Amino acid sequence: MSTASHDLSDSRAFVAGATGALGGGIADALLERGARVVPGGRDERRLAEVARRCGTEGVRFDAVDVDSCRAAADAAAAQLGGLDLVVVTVGAAGFGPALETPAELSEELFAVNVLGPMSLVRAAVPHLADGGTVVVLSAILADLPTAGMADYSAAKTALATWLEVLRRENRRRFRVVDVRPPHLDTGLDQRALGGEPPRLPEPMPASRVVDAVLEAVAGDATEVVVDRGAGLVVR
Ligand SMILES: NC(=O)c1ccc[n+]([C@@H]2O[C@H](COP(=O)([O-])OP(=O)(O)OC[C@H]3O[C@@H](n4cnc5c(N)ncnc54)[C@H](OP(=O)(O)O)[C@@H]3O)[C@@H](O)[C@H]2O)c1
Repeated sequence: MSTASHDLSDSRAFVAGATGALGGGIADALLERGARVVPGGRDERRLAEVARRCGTEGVRFDAVDVDSCRAAADAAAAQLGGLDLVVVTVGAAGFGPALETPAELSEELFAVNVLGPMSLVRAAVPHLADGGTVVVLSAILADLPTAGMADYSAAKTALATWLEVLRRENRRRFRVVDVRPPHLDTGLDQRALGGEPPRLPEPMPASRVVDAVLEAVAGDATEVVVDRGAGLVVR
């Protein structure tokens, strides 16, 4: 349990991936706490829906296009007059053993899960107020690389490592929160970029991760992780 210290009312938040299950839930939870939220995503229809709830203009981007990530972050910050919080929930699953994953799938997994979030953070941080917060979704796979998910595990591990370096390099200027949830009930595995999922554990309700992210943002935590025996932990 982290110590609550950040008042979210009127805070300026850019949620990149708000068209997805976790991103949409986080955007709604931030709105409930009085934050001003600009949602970002790729799917036009879902972006329009979440933007209507937020009362702002949604910003479209494709995570594999660096220029569109930059334009989206710039447009979000321009609407809000700067940013206090950046949340990146962009990601896509893909399955297969290490020696059988096609190169094209491997490249796409790294583009969407590693390079895309890195581009979005690089684009958003120049707009972030001192003392602001960057939240990025990696996955439990960074702690527990899993058979049958070789390249997806490697991509999430690469992202988590980059976030650790980002934190070390910028600890006096902003906070980095790495969120590494287990398998969730959002249907992400059904939208995989390729391959067949291995046998997956019972999914955790995504609402628990949304609550944990909000607890982390409002407090001083730097990660949301699965601690064996203790479940999902904010620390
Ligand atoms: N669900 C789980 O079991 C689980 C477990 C651990 C970690 N995570 C991570 O949590 C994050 C959110 O997952 P979720 O379950 O909420 O999945 P989701 O509903 O499928 O959301 C994924 C988000 O990523 C966006 N996205 C994917 N490819 C993109 C691209 N090329 N350009 C722009 N946006 C792109 C989607 O945008 P559009 O819909 O607009 O295309 C969507 O907003 C992901 O990083 C995922 O890896 C999920």
